Amino acid sequence: MKKQVGQVFTPLNWAKWLINKWGIFDAWIDGAHVCDPTAGQGIFALAMLHIARNRGIPITSERLSRITLIEMIPTHLKHFKREVRREFNIDFPAAQVFCKDIITKKHDEKYDILIGNPPWANFGDLPAAYKKVIKPFFIQEGLVDNKQQLLLGSSRVDMAALVLKVVVGKLLNQNGLGYFYLPTSLFFGESAHRGFRNYKADYRHFAIDNVYEFSTTTVFEGVSTSYCCARIHADKKQKFPVTYYRESEGNWVEYKAVPFENQNAPWRIVQNIDELKTDNSLEISLTPEQKPRQGVNTCGANNIFIYEHKPSHLPEHLLFPLATKEIWRQDKSSPHRWIMLPYCRETGKPLTHEQIQKYDTLCSYLQNFRDVLRDRKGTMLQTFISRGNWWAMLGVGPYSFAPFKVMWEAYGRNKFNPMVLSSVDGQMWQGNQAMHAFIPCWSEENAHKIKIALENPEILKLLRQLNGGGKCNWAQPGKIKKLLSFLEIDG
Ligand SMILES: C[S@@+](CC[C@H](N)C(=O)[O-])C[C@H]1O[C@@H](n2cnc3c(N)ncnc32)[C@H](O)[C@@H]1O
Repeated sequence: MKKQVGQVFTPLNWAKWLINKWGIFDAWIDGAHVCDPTAGQGIFALAMLHIARNRGIPITSERLSRITLIEMIPTHLKHFKREVRREFNIDFPAAQVFCKDIITKKHDEKYDILIGNPPWANFGDLPAAYKKVIKPFFIQEGLVDNKQQLLLGSSRVDMAALVLKVVVGKLLNQNGLGYFYLPTSLFFGESAHRGFRNYKADYRHFAIDNVYEFSTTTVFEGVSTSYCCARIHADKKQKFPVTYYRESEGNWVEYKAVPFENQNAPWRIVQNIDELKTDNSLEISLTPEQKPRQGVNTCGANNIFIYEHKPSHLPEHLLFPLATKEIWRQDKSSPHRWIMLPYCRETGKPLTHEQIQKYDTLCSYLQNFRDVLRDRKGTMLQTFISRGNWWAMLGVGPYSFAPFKVMWEAYGRNKFNPMVLSSVDGQMWQGNQAMHAFIPCWSEENAHKIKIALENPEILKLLRQLNGGGKCNWAQPGKIKKLLSFLEIDG
């Protein structure tokens, strides 16, 4: 059941790189006990042995007794032992190799140094049976407050966050050190990683003082997540700024990282602390109905609801222009995609069974896909489906039918370019899931006012400092809500 939990193996040269960068090899030679708590095929231990051989330093049994590997998949550890025998003609001591789940099983030893690359996987993507087993540990480690939170927004919380908390809290000696390759979302993620950023593990403080973010070099092939390596000190309170290096044309450029607003907030990256003096006029007046929103989420049924050409057999008033990148690249905004929303535009609710039956073609079209639509996953969606509205989607409400929208590209961009979109033949533009975010407006004048307010260059500056450039959380509604102070006005 636990097979394939976040397996991204480190190449040998990058394991050596991390070891050399932080003097881990020398610390080992000087007597430190080193452990890789999620060792995979033991590349960090192998790298230590390679460095010893290259430097002509004997691999004694005393030195070997100060390297430990923990891994839950037995074949990985067998592979490691075979590799040590083949490369170094050594039988790696069995007492230093533990095949166990480091989250759920007790481990008695403690170490001076932890190294490695904890599993990279969102909680939401784990096998169902394993989710059940480790859920209580996410709560115990303060990563989420309750099980409900895991089901909803925080299902994006990463296993790496949990493993780090467990191993720093339970496996490090007093003032021990950890050196890891990590997804940068631990530092820049919104609510999902707030719990990681209490900088406490098992009631012990921990502090991150040095981070190297890879932006051009590929350390891990085929990984789309942004990653870094970081040094962690156990039993030290987190202090800011953190020294933050970012790759630029083959060099490491030094920046400072500080939390945005309070201690647990995502980090901002600046070159000078002076840059932090933000113009405090980032205020926008909105009514309570104008909360920034993501686009429509068909929950895996894009092929049923989204079309390249406007279908003539479906009721025209249910077909809406869907935003695509062309809107931001071309001057005139004619639709390149259409989305069908079988919804009542006055209430923002799915059409009832009776309302759907009024349209023969719609009714038979949806019936063709009934089983697929009913089988879509997701707790919130299933609430609609259990009420019989199996044609429902997420992210549709009265706001979807506002006559104007100030919309921007929210995912994977470096530019923040809000546009006012009105309607095409009376049909309102819709955003596509996390790709787009928008503020609904009920007058054109209000839409233009909001667009102008959003064009404040301080917003783009802040978004860049929050390190979301090119990443999935570039300008998502939650982040925009935090950047700006929205003055609530009466509708
Ligand atoms: C990202 S891989 C890295 C492996 C190795 N450190 C490397 O850098 O090549 C993470 C490893 O952690 C293991 N793993 C995942 N969850 C674990 C757990 N709860 N306890 C022990 N090992 C775990 C996976 O099987 C995988 O081999």
